[in-house]
Amino acid sequence: MHITVALIGFGNVGRALARLLMRKTDVLRQDYNLTFTVTGIATNSRGCAIDPGGIHLETALKLVEAGDGLRSLHRGDPVIETLDFIERCPASLILESTWLNPHTGQPAADYARAALRAGRHVVTANKGPVAFAYRELCELARQNGRGFFFESTVMDGAPVLGLGREALLATDIHRIHGILNSTTNFVLTQIEEGSSLEQAVQQAQQMGLAEADPANDLEGWDAAVKIVVLANVLMGADLRPADVDRTGITGLAVDDIRAAVASGERYKLLCEAVREGETVRACVRPVRLPLSDPLSQIRGTSSAVTFETDTLSHLTLIEGDPDPETTAYGMLVDMINITRERYL
Ligand SMILES: NC(=O)c1ccc[n+]([C@@H]2O[C@H](COP(=O)([O-])OP(=O)(O)OC[C@H]3O[C@@H](n4cnc5c(N)ncnc54)[C@H](OP(=O)(O)O)[C@@H]3O)[C@@H](O)[C@H]2O)c1
Repeated sequence: MHITVALIGFGNVGRALARLLMRKTDVLRQDYNLTFTVTGIATNSRGCAIDPGGIHLETALKLVEAGDGLRSLHRGDPVIETLDFIERCPASLILESTWLNPHTGQPAADYARAALRAGRHVVTANKGPVAFAYRELCELARQNGRGFFFESTVMDGAPVLGLGREALLATDIHRIHGILNSTTNFVLTQIEEGSSLEQAVQQAQQMGLAEADPANDLEGWDAAVKIVVLANVLMGADLRPADVDRTGITGLAVDDIRAAVASGERYKLLCEAVREGETVRACVRPVRLPLSDPLSQIRGTSSAVTFETDTLSHLTLIEGDPDPETTAYGMLVDMINITRERYL
């Protein structure tokens, strides 16, 4: 099978995906009979390129990494903005990795809507469309006979959603809890090891982990969006991030974090979704966990999630030290599953 692919977003994840696609080209052909042409790349500030004949990924990477735009690779009338790109780019699959607005899910939710309406499959690493419009987008995909996949939205490329959807069959997931935000876990780990909050945040920013404004992470918004994705996709809930009872880590005193360690416990920013009768309640809050709890052992940028079900008492998935390539890997798996028609 041959597919045409467009990338929206060519930042850390989009570029890692481009590199991974190049690295896995032979494996895709040999093991999945899958070949692809990248017909378009869209960015915010570096322009867009559409070339039905195929964009040379290595050239696109070199241009962007040298600080240049992508316009020299474009063929045809200029692209006005991203919705115009989605309409015009001749691609059967959109790979979306733009910024997350945790308060609205936009503009990525609109991009997913437009792409599905235009008859394209959508793979996204962006939590926004799933946290704000999961049911609507699934229905749109179904009506158009297309796939809408988003494995990388929670725990990067670790197959947490695939596990829930493909392996945890005929079971009642009554609780999901975990550590889902790398920045806060890294910051808590650094504070335990002697840093101040400011030093730890600065280090996270230098590593490219935290954004210039780290509030979305520190105040628990990113974690809230992720637990909403898990609750909506795996527990049948219909929550929005604002429904989550949310407390971040900014109210924690450095002394309290270190005192917890001295008494054999660790503070973790715990995300939790619990079934209560017909509803699902979600919360994000700092919790002191005993060292005997496996989640207390999750250090630095790693993350973990535990499922409690009526058939498997506790099932924990741990992802060690994720990076943009890990996220890109989740998108690659989604791309393979779409071509295997796993969405039908
Ligand atoms: N980094 C990770 O490991 C990771 C893990 C899991 C999920 N994610 C999710 O993946 C997404 C991307 O993360 P990232 O680290 O790659 O971010 P990033 O480095 O900031 O890249 C974002 C890309 O999106 C482009 N973009 C922004 N708004 C756009 C628009 N309206 N139209 C077209 N392109 C637009 C940006 O354009 P410019 O190049 O012009 O700035 C940039 O290329 C986010 O939603 C994030 O939450 C990331």
